[in-house]
Amino acid sequence: MTEKIYFYPGWLRIWHGLNAIFCILLIITGIRMQYAFSSPVVTFERAVSWHNFGGIALTFNYTIFLIGNIFTKNGAHYRLRFKNISQRLLKQLLYYSVGIFRKEHSPFPINEDRKFNPLQQISYLIIMYFAVPILFITGWALLFPEFIMRNVFGFSGIFLTAQLHIAMGFFVSLFLIIHLYVSTMGTKPISNFKSIITGWQEAH
Ligand code: HEM
Repeated sequence: MTEKIYFYPGWLRIWHGLNAIFCILLIITGIRMQYAFSSPVVTFERAVSWHNFGGIALTFNYTIFLIGNIFTKNGAHYRLRFKNISQRLLKQLLYYSVGIFRKEHSPFPINEDRKFNPLQQISYLIIMYFAVPILFITGWALLFPEFIMRNVFGFSGIFLTAQLHIAMGFFVSLFLIIHLYVSTMGTKPISNFKSIITGWQEAH
């Protein structure tokens, strides 16, 4: 019988589900505003108000992630060990690009103490502690532009904030595409998706 580990407690599954919904809403409405194509359902005005709602909801939802990671042992999975980091990243990259197709064993099998492989760990760290916070901080700033510095080294503060916001939006969208693809690389293509819904992950 395969061993199962309870990796995703209730609070984490609720945060993740809501986070996925809000991110998808933000991506669709963000693209609608950026490219201003015409759509009778998602009008420009609707895109703006749904985007504002999505951003506010995403920020409050983020506090579940942050508090959960501070006060439960889930936070330990985000503590990066720098020893041999580049070799470990390369090993995992080689496994994802070659080894997995040769049915080799994972170089970093999961266990109670290791939920993420090095690539997952570093990408989740960058997304959750860098990209998403910059995204919602710049988003809130654009909601209240009176608080943005008028001039930064000769450039408009609002312009720079908007550029950073858009760049991070594209970065998170790109992460989502890669995240969905990599999530299919579990024991079976559907296994990881089942885990994030039930909480239980099959050890492999
Ligand atoms: C349709 C949207 C999404 C789906 C189907 C999905 C799927 C999954 C799956 C299957 C896992 C468990 C496997 C693993 O740990 O790698 C997972 C974990 C995770 N996902 Fe997603 N995801 C989605 C959106 C997002 C978004 C938008 C973000 C961040 C912006 C995100 C961030 C994370 C993080 C940080 C974890 C690890 C959580 C933890 O265990 O501490 N996901 N996701």
